Amino acid sequence: MRIGLIGYGRMGQAVERVATARGHTIAGVLRRETPPEVRLQIAQQSDALIDFSLADAVPANVALALQTRTPLIIGVTGWDAQREAVAQQVQAAGGSVLYAPNFSIAVQVFLQQAVSLAAQLLTLEGWDVALEEIHHRGKSDAPSGTARALASRLQHALNHTRVAQYPVPADHRLPDAQFAVGVVRLGSEFGTHRLMLDGPYDWIELTHRAKSRDGFAYGAVRAAEWLVGRTGFYHFAEVLHEILAHKEER
Ligand SMILES: NC(=O)c1ccc[n+]([C@@H]2O[C@H](COP(=O)([O-])OP(=O)(O)OC[C@H]3O[C@@H](n4cnc5c(N)ncnc54)[C@H](OP(=O)(O)O)[C@@H]3O)[C@@H](O)[C@H]2O)c1
Repeated sequence: MRIGLIGYGRMGQAVERVATARGHTIAGVLRRETPPEVRLQIAQQSDALIDFSLADAVPANVALALQTRTPLIIGVTGWDAQREAVAQQVQAAGGSVLYAPNFSIAVQVFLQQAVSLAAQLLTLEGWDVALEEIHHRGKSDAPSGTARALASRLQHALNHTRVAQYPVPADHRLPDAQFAVGVVRLGSEFGTHRLMLDGPYDWIELTHRAKSRDGFAYGAVRAAEWLVGRTGFYHFAEVLHEILAHKEER
């Protein structure tokens, strides 16, 4: 498969490494300064585009993918406010887009288990919950897309009896109907997410820690292999079982 990379920062370079190791070729790299005619040319020459650039660039990248009918993987975070509009645009145009705030397959399993664990224990008396995420200083959004996804799935599982609070209020106690989302920015940390549960007699922590960026890149490349030949607007978590069962014809 020929892959066009959008963004060649930390993640773009990880995708290049992982995709090449899986036998794919890089059709070209779209950088911030790449002129429109070159963007068009690279998109036309790609079987799939993988976007790890910036939230502000997502609408233009979706438009490029729809114009050239190239399947698009969006790994960028921080564009949630535009998601509904993008979904409608993709469906109306018969395009193919798959997105995830976190392409780590292990994180998707972690999220399922974390929500199930918290939802069971929070039905008992005296249990409290909090989330924490730790990322490198270069990260441009907070809380992370994964922390927001975990908070939202947890709120849903708890029928919104508790809602996420970030940042924690500086001038009053945290109400019982809210749970804290903590954010730490530290050095070159790839990404840690932690669920903490505090009960009358027990403390439980469930932590996922990425050892490198390659796990995110691997999930994005597997998603691209699956997306080629399909149309629709997909969330990675919703089609993960199909992606894992998919064997690419090489
Ligand atoms: N879904 C996941 O699994 C996952 C995992 C990790 C990170 N992320 C997200 O992926 C995004 C990128 O992360 P990163 O760590 O790779 O960031 P990064 O190192 O800052 O790289 C972003 C790159 O995008 C480039 N860029 C900016 N605007 C562009 C445009 N219009 N067209 C093409 N390239 C453009 C930047 O170029 P300049 O240097 O010129 O600004 C930079 O090289 C962030 O939103 C991050 O939160 C997602």
